[in-house]
Amino acid sequence: MSTLSTEFDQWIRHDFVQLNDQLEALYWQQDDKANVVAVGEDIKQTLTTQGNAFIIKLLAEGNTDEGFENAFDLLGNVGLFMAACRRHEITEPSREVISPLQEASALAMHIGASIGVTPRFATAHLTTHNKAVNGVYKRFTNLHAEKLFIDYNTRGILAYKRAAESLIKIHSLGISHPMTPILLTEVKRALLDVIESNQILYTELDTDAFFYQVRPYYKPYRVGKEIYRGANAGDFAGINVIDLMLGLCQANDVHYGQMLVDKFLYMMPEDQATLRECMRLPNLFDALLTEAENGHTGSWFEETATLFMQVCKLHGDTAIQHHNQLVSKYIAHPSQRLAQQHMDKVTASGPPLPVLLKQLETLRDKRAAANREDIYTRYQDLQILRQRVKGGASQ
Ligand code: HEM
Repeated sequence: MSTLSTEFDQWIRHDFVQLNDQLEALYWQQDDKANVVAVGEDIKQTLTTQGNAFIIKLLAEGNTDEGFENAFDLLGNVGLFMAACRRHEITEPSREVISPLQEASALAMHIGASIGVTPRFATAHLTTHNKAVNGVYKRFTNLHAEKLFIDYNTRGILAYKRAAESLIKIHSLGISHPMTPILLTEVKRALLDVIESNQILYTELDTDAFFYQVRPYYKPYRVGKEIYRGANAGDFAGINVIDLMLGLCQANDVHYGQMLVDKFLYMMPEDQATLRECMRLPNLFDALLTEAENGHTGSWFEETATLFMQVCKLHGDTAIQHHNQLVSKYIAHPSQRLAQQHMDKVTASGPPLPVLLKQLETLRDKRAAANREDIYTRYQDLQILRQRVKGGASQ
């Protein structure tokens, strides 16, 4: 890391956090906690001036080749600054046609394009690729709610990744391999970890603190002329690897395919490669059904198919939990209370809230193999598999 990058990193870890904390305290005192207009203008000015001063020097220094890790880290720091400016409405994409943060935009685009990721801060910057110094990792604020949110997002992501890694290994072994039940058991364990972690988050995270003080840092913002959607905990390959390997979602489904296309550049390059590979692989659901059709229901079949169905059930449960608990409690309900003038600013990805909720509902029902007439789910196939397992058991 160059000296300048290190100094900027220090600023992001210390003064930047304090300035955000001061602004959060001022917003929180208001009757309308969502309002940021004409509050703490001097602090916002300090934030902009100090951040820009580092960035102008970094831009002049040039994106010298110091390796992927440093480039990605610097992009994250520029992104945290730009996201905070968006949160405090120092920039506002609907007000502008081009980001007023010209130097930050130029630096972000230079780095993003050169390493093959979106030119904004992504979830990985705050979760899986967020280096702690003396026990403290990078955050926007010192607020308890933000730490809790990031801690449990990271735990959830790491557990999903564990599940995905075990599932991919099955591809090389084949569905009837004696190691497959062992791998499926590992997947179950990892998905149970997701459920446990989500449950703690659901119980402990304060709704208003999340809604008014954490979520606003995840809004879309402009880099140059383009608006980039906010980061969300789903911006890693693991969750989609599970969807695709289990066969609960299909890469050639127009809605699901759209989501994959849209999220590629928000993921780390290694995740992009994994997901691309997975999009070309056959899924385990089809493999089991084919074995059953061919009468290959030897002693392995019942154990593996039963474990497979348990894994599907758990994956569906994590999606139900995400939608019916987390999204509902922390986004949908508080949004209903929000004054109409703030409504267009609720979601991270940009679409109006009802549209976003519908998309998430569709994903939930595909993952849960729900009985729906209007979209394709594996509900019928699950009934067939269940019957085959019962039939196999009685043979
Ligand atoms: C996406 C809300 C925690 C996994 C989303 C979206 C929302 C949301 C609103 C859609 C993003 C957008 O485009 O605007 C929340 C809330 C959480 C939370 C309110 C907690 C307070 C988590 C956790 C995980 C997770 C802990 C686990 C890793 C995902 C995934 C997606 C997503 C995978 C992408 C869509 C999908 O594939 O389902 N979340 N989330 N979320 N979130 Fe969360």
